[in-house]
Amino acid sequence: MNDGMVNAAYIIAAILFILSLSGLSKQETARRGNQFGIAGMALAIIAVILSKDVSNYGVLIVTIGIGGGIGAVLAKRVEMTQMPELVAILHSFVGLAAVLVGFATYLDPDSNYLGTERTIHDVEIYLGILIGALTFTGSVVAFGKLSGKVGSKPLILPARHMINVGIGIACVILLMLFIGTAPETASATAGKGAGTAILVIMTLLAFAFGVHMVMAIGGADMPVVISMLNSYSGWAAAATGFMLSNDLLIVVGALVGSSGAILSYIMCRAMNRKFFSVIMGGWGDAPKGAASDDDEEQGEAVSISADEVAQLCKDAESVVIVPGYGMAVAHAQHPVSELTNRLKAAGINIRFAIHPVAGRMPGHMNVLLAEANVPYDLVLEMDEINEDLAKTDVVIVIGANDIVNPAALDNPNSPIAGMPVLEVWNAKQVIVSKRSMATGYAGVENPLFFKENTRMLFGDAKDSVNGILANL
Ligand code: TAP
Repeated sequence: MNDGMVNAAYIIAAILFILSLSGLSKQETARRGNQFGIAGMALAIIAVILSKDVSNYGVLIVTIGIGGGIGAVLAKRVEMTQMPELVAILHSFVGLAAVLVGFATYLDPDSNYLGTERTIHDVEIYLGILIGALTFTGSVVAFGKLSGKVGSKPLILPARHMINVGIGIACVILLMLFIGTAPETASATAGKGAGTAILVIMTLLAFAFGVHMVMAIGGADMPVVISMLNSYSGWAAAATGFMLSNDLLIVVGALVGSSGAILSYIMCRAMNRKFFSVIMGGWGDAPKGAASDDDEEQGEAVSISADEVAQLCKDAESVVIVPGYGMAVAHAQHPVSELTNRLKAAGINIRFAIHPVAGRMPGHMNVLLAEANVPYDLVLEMDEINEDLAKTDVVIVIGANDIVNPAALDNPNSPIAGMPVLEVWNAKQVIVSKRSMATGYAGVENPLFFKENTRMLFGDAKDSVNGILANL
């Protein structure tokens, strides 16, 4: 393929990626958005393979075979509940790739940049490795936290802000030194020994920063971390594009980087957090000396059986279902969809209330409900339905916890204080389907379970919903 054809393919791929993003912004068009994305990526890969930069097809076929094979097996095996951790580990690969490409580009013996060009090229390499390295370790820690291998409590080191500032200053000084290693007139390979040493030190510092940054973020703030790392992985890809002088990678990286940044902003607004204070860490942990809910006497939770819930539903005019992470764990979306159909057929006003951070990834609940063919028009966002909850006869909370915790509004000392929640307790009757009295992801006790109008439907959510269905 000549350069003109490759560039044409890149432009078409970039347009397909933009169409993909716009499709993914609405449930109705999300499937088409995915198809655009797949087509764009396939076209991009084919164009790169057929470009004149690629000559060693043997190595390429073997590496694509190994990578594609592992990816296909993992993607097939992964449970819906493990998607967020899969996404996190995939972000880490983007970061690691940026680091490796950065070193390879710097050490490339054929690179013949000199003078100002070399300075610009070196800054691209430095920034690419820096962003890539912190994305890599940050994403690995996020993977650990989301999969439960690393505790969700924030790790608050005594001098954490000083450590962050220190690493930041060190990276700026190292950048100056790094640029200084490139002589104005000597050969393009001059000064690379010292430059490599500086890059290695900076990479280690960035690795440490990535670990420290994500370790300091508490459980409830993980949604922001995920979208933030998503954004970083985009910028790392864009930096790689600059290093490799690949326009498509720059465009795609910028698209991912900016859409991740917008998502982080949306997540912060949903959680009533300031982005800066989230990334500085420390949220999600009870303030020092604050009375924690755990210490307070909560009273007793009252349980209910599935047939009693069925009777409540039959007597109700309006029912709202609040799905949470437990619905994903129990794979309860199909019986929930069946319950929706049955209640709708009986003339009951049935709707869903979706909290922006329900589950473990943005849009988690919407994806599950769409998979189970729940009509989109019944699925409402928190802001659209919160006020209606006071006029609702029965709210059924299915495997949700933090997102319906009144402590977020009532208890200023709660680790989730200030986070907007679904105010389900204002409904006439609240049913909470979960297996036990255990806390949710943020590790916070939930006073909802002890309210007078709350009844606990204990058991696996799928069994519980099937139990309700059997008695309807
Ligand atoms: P959680 O607060 O995590 O609560 C889920 C509840 O589901 C648990 O209390 C659990 O109680 C119950 N459960 C688990 N398996 C179940 C099963 N098989 N059947 C029935 N119940 C089951 O979930 P949420 O309310 O959706 O809130 C989301 C939380 O995750 C927030 O803190 C949010 O910040 C955080 N988070 C969100 C994201 C994104 S982007 N959405 C990313 C990372 C973290 P039992 O064990 O008693 O059953």
